[in-house]
Amino acid sequence: MRVLSGIQPSGALHLGNYFGSMRPNLEWQDKAEQSFYFVVDLHALTSVQDRNQLRQSRIDCILDLLACGFDPKKAIIFYQSHIPEHAELMWILSTLVPMGMLERAVSYKDKVSKGLSASVGLFTYPVLMAADILLYDTNLVPVGKDQKQHVEIARDIAIKFNNTYGDVLVVPEPQIHEDVAVVPGTDGQKMSKSYGNTIPLFGDDASIKKSIMGIVTDSKGMNDPKDPETCVIYQMHKLFLSPEDARALGDEYRNGLPYGEGKKRLLSTYMEYFRPMREKRMKLKEKDAMEVAAMGAKRAKSVAVGTMVKVRAAVGLL
Ligand code: ADP
Ligand code: TRP
Repeated sequence: MRVLSGIQPSGALHLGNYFGSMRPNLEWQDKAEQSFYFVVDLHALTSVQDRNQLRQSRIDCILDLLACGFDPKKAIIFYQSHIPEHAELMWILSTLVPMGMLERAVSYKDKVSKGLSASVGLFTYPVLMAADILLYDTNLVPVGKDQKQHVEIARDIAIKFNNTYGDVLVVPEPQIHEDVAVVPGTDGQKMSKSYGNTIPLFGDDASIKKSIMGIVTDSKGMNDPKDPETCVIYQMHKLFLSPEDARALGDEYRNGLPYGEGKKRLLSTYMEYFRPMREKRMKLKEKDAMEVAAMGAKRAKSVAVGTMVKVRAAVGLL
């Protein structure tokens, strides 16, 4: 079983990235025959066009992954841009993708409505993501729910390729943990680097406190009964809890736990959970990221080259 996922270096990693993507992929690095977790820096160009910012975010991203427990001896950790085969496969796949398939992609429409420029790169983003996945004979792609449609597009493209050229590409499946499928942000929408509503994993203590204390709530009085299902504080807090503890906390909200008290408890749980990772992160240096990425690129490259030999032969480019 091959398991693969990617993350954009487009800003500081946050709680939604951790529970939606990093944690499920961390579990797979111990269980999968081979697992890949990589920094999709070519994708990030669709939203980050400041070279200093991208340079810093790429480095921080790998250091954050290492601090959270990704282990280069187990998972193949690398930068997408170090393997040019991603862009080559993307082009070949794009010749098979009907415009309508991309026109239906909700993420493109969402991003444009939130103010990103409607570039060709943003439009064809799902084809690059399909290439990312198909290049490594991936069976399973653990992602948050917002990425489900993109993995389905990768599946459809693999099937179309195989129908056209013969059985070459492995057809992947998404894996989504329903309990953490969409982590809400401090404003109640999906938490996302691009929406300014995140709680960062590695921000300084004061900014994490400010984000948690700033979570939006409704205007219920201090001791009024609250609905945990619509309470963002509870929805975040339960990510850290066992089902029994989550149920008990839900009952406390129903019995009138004040939102201010709920936020203080969330802050303390957050700090306790991430403390070891935050301590490890402080000790990591830029050169650690470079070493891990160089080693990862070597391992990724050998798989990517093997797939491209088959793809080139299948389409008549060999
Ligand atoms: P962002 O939306 O912050 O830019 P990315 O697009 O880089 O994050 O997403 C990286 C991974 O994290 C993807 O698998 C995505 O599904 C997951 N993810 C991002 N935000 C959330 C969230 N709020 N809830 C659950 N998973 C999320
Ligand atoms: N599009 C994904 C996101 O925004 C990131 C990504 C790029 C990805 N390539 C991938 C995720 C391949 C899984 C597999 O979150």
